[in-house]
Amino acid sequence: MERETGLTADIDRLLQAARARPATEKTPVLLMDKASIKARYEGFRACFGRARVYYAVKSNPHPAIITLLHGLGCDFEVSSLGELRRLLDMGIAPPRITVGNPVKAPELVRLAGSSGIDFTAFDSDAEIEKLVALAPGTRVGVRLNVPNDGSEWPLTKKFGVEADRAVELLVRAGQRGLVPEGIFFHVGSQCTLAGTWAKAIEKSWSVWQRAAERGVRLRQLNVGGGFPATYLRPVPSVAEIAAVIHQSVAAFFPPDVEISVSPGRGLVAEAGILAASVMARAARDSEQWLYLDVGVFNGLMEAVGGIKYRIIPSRGGPTRQWVLSGPTCDSFDVISNEVELPDLEVGDRVYFTSAGAYTTAYASEFDGFPIPEIRFLE
Ligand SMILES: Cc1ncc(COP(=O)(O)O)c(C=O)c1O
Repeated sequence: MERETGLTADIDRLLQAARARPATEKTPVLLMDKASIKARYEGFRACFGRARVYYAVKSNPHPAIITLLHGLGCDFEVSSLGELRRLLDMGIAPPRITVGNPVKAPELVRLAGSSGIDFTAFDSDAEIEKLVALAPGTRVGVRLNVPNDGSEWPLTKKFGVEADRAVELLVRAGQRGLVPEGIFFHVGSQCTLAGTWAKAIEKSWSVWQRAAERGVRLRQLNVGGGFPATYLRPVPSVAEIAAVIHQSVAAFFPPDVEISVSPGRGLVAEAGILAASVMARAARDSEQWLYLDVGVFNGLMEAVGGIKYRIIPSRGGPTRQWVLSGPTCDSFDVISNEVELPDLEVGDRVYFTSAGAYTTAYASEFDGFPIPEIRFLE
């Protein structure tokens, strides 16, 4: 994992705030900045005009983040019964919630249906039958498989169908008494190519048109998440991606199409910085190993799936190559096999920037190591 200098002004501000925390603060700790989340949300709002912005709760379900976004007028996308219950318990009105998961547990379908959340994704005959049985009359959108070019966390294969099948499923949903209303797609998380949305929108249009030819008139297009965060390299901004989306939608779709977006990472990743401590170090053959109190299991799962974090040490000096490891006794718990860092000592701090999404949300207490506490910067 390379380490580069050059942070965005916002991330640098967070780093300074993290460094100013008392040396006695217990780690690992995920420091989140509400002002930064607010600014990101307002950025989405400004770039997407009338479109609905659904926060993908899975990326960081902390109640304070949900409360903040709710107060700002953001809507929410859930995938599970647990997420839906959390929002309903917090008093969030069902019309502000959508269920983006095309493969839902029966209990989720039941609760969504009975609480009046009636727009959801699907991509199979079995899901149609589940919806017909447990939440008849639900408005649905088919999950279309689209290219994930430029995504550092692809989401292909597991969900979504090709165009021919998408049309058939929309027709079938209508025949079974559901209300086929739209299309959902996802270009893959951390998508660094704005043109991938353009390809996905063009593909959606072919489904839209062919569904219309079969008597199914659609209204909604959900262009997913995928908005990237800055880790090591610069990425296209929300404004740049939004411009591509608007241009592509205008090129194909009627002006009354209802667009929505479901960002997770793009709203909260850059608002978080993960502070960890060096727990141990060891020389093993020719390798130098550095063990942190956070690793793959208790916060940095994405490091093994393609996300390359920027790692900033608390101490300067000449660097060398380390194997950077988490604290558990599982050999899978390696954050990076090669990272350039100074000669760190036990107790030194290490900061992972853009750590606000899919870190604590993925974490387990495997081997007794705690999940980082989330604290909010003042
Ligand atoms: C259905 C759905 N919507 C939204 C998201 C959020 O994506 P991202 O965090 O890339 O914005 C995901 C991520 O997995 C997803 O599966």
